Formats: sequence, structure tokens, C-alpha cells
Amino acid sequence: MIEVQNICKSFGTLEVLKGVNLSVKKGEIVAIIGKSGAGKTTLLQIIGTLDRPTSGRVLIDGTDVFAMKDRELASFRNRHIGFIFQFHQLLPEFTALENVCIPAMIAREKESTYKPRAEKLLTELGLAERMNHKPNQLSGGEKQRVAAARALMMNPTIILADEPTGSLDEKNKRELSDLLLHLRKQYGQTILLVTHDKELAAISDRIIEIKDGQIL
Ligand SMILES: Nc1ncnc2c1ncn2[C@@H]1O[C@H](COP(=O)(O)OP(=O)(O)O)[C@@H](O)[C@H]1O
Ligand SMILES: [Mg+2]
Repeated sequence: MIEVQNICKSFGTLEVLKGVNLSVKKGEIVAIIGKSGAGKTTLLQIIGTLDRPTSGRVLIDGTDVFAMKDRELASFRNRHIGFIFQFHQLLPEFTALENVCIPAMIAREKESTYKPRAEKLLTELGLAERMNHKPNQLSGGEKQRVAAARALMMNPTIILADEPTGSLDEKNKRELSDLLLHLRKQYGQTILLVTHDKELAAISDRIIEIKDGQIL
């Protein structure tokens, strides 16, 4: 499903990733741990095709993603990969529903096809009564569920989550772990997450650690 082959990434003279190899099966939940500054976010951004490596390849379902030009890659990302960030990254001026619709708008879908889908997702995530609220009218856990709904909007095969519980309290942390497990069960999604959270790491099939630019 995901093949990371000998990925190196430098920022100027700083070598952050020094030959990372990783292979993730379909439906697997893999947790990435490591000290702050170890390169976890950098690796996730590269696997998510948001950033290009200095060298090395990433294959997603057999597609050599960095062989694609930027436009083609953006469209690939939109269709195949959903992101959940630590600080949700919702757009403050838009309602929960509008935030969830954005990936479909980028893909130039018709409103009549994407709006019902977004409403269904928000309802499934327990946000039926919150659709028309803006992010600052939502609790931390609700915002993170809106971000999860946005990540699921294009029915991606891969979900990447960078410290998704980093800004949540215990109850919401547990709810997010349950949600990720539920997604894998219901949709067979492949999930890669960066986390410091022991509970979240514990629901994973596998934990990998990044140290000195490599996977231990
Ligand atoms: N765009 C960038 N430009 C320069 N340095 C960066 C950039 N992104 C990350 N870094 C550096 O790369 C290292 C790894 O960062 P990051 O991947 O964010 O680590 P982690 O997520 O494990 O805390 C850090 O030293 C960070 O300062
Ligand atoms: Mg990080």
C-alpha cells in the first residue's frame, strides 16, 4: 500500500531524514514516535506528498508519487490522502459544514453531490447539531471531529494524522482513538499517525521510532 524507499530530506545543510525505509500494508495502523525535532512531521508530509524528498521514492498503491508533476500530484493527494493535524487547521470564517466540503470543492464536484455527503459524515461523527457553527463556536473535540470529517470527505485510502490528540483532553483523546479504530474497521483505511499519546500508540498495529534520521 505505502512503500517508502530510502527517503532522504535535508533543509540546507540540516539532514533530517537519512535513508528512511518503511512499508505499510492496507488497513494497517502505524504509529510514528520519536523526540521533538526527530523528523516525524517531515516524514509524514513527504508520505502525504505535501513536500518532496531530497532523494528516495514513495510508492502509493504502486504509483511512484514524486514522478508526478505538481498539479497531477495535488489531484492524486486530494483523492487518496486525508490529513488530520494537531491544531485541526479549520478555516475560521467557514462553518463546520463548509470546512468539510472544501476538499470536494477543490475537486470541482457539484454541490448537489458533495453537500449531502458532508452532512452524512458530520452526522456520523455526532455533529448533526453543529454543522452551521464556526470553529470558534466548537469545543476542541468537536473541532477535531470536523477535521476528521474533512479528512474523510474524499473517501481516501490513507489517513495521515500528525499528533491528532495533541491539543485534546482525556475524554476527547479516547474518542479520537475510537474514531480511528472505527474508520479502519468500517472503511479499511490505512492510518499513519505521529503521536506522543500512549493510548493512541497502543491502538496501533505497529509502533516505529525515528532517531538520527532513520527508523530504529
Ligand atoms: N521547512 C523547514 N525548513 C527548515 N528546517 C525545517 C523545516 N521543517 C522542519 N525543519 C527542521 O527539521 C527538523 C525536524 O522537524 P520535524 O519533522 O518538524 O520534527 P518532529 O515533527 O519530529 O518534531 C527540525 O530540526 C526542524 O527545525
Ligand atoms: Mg512534528
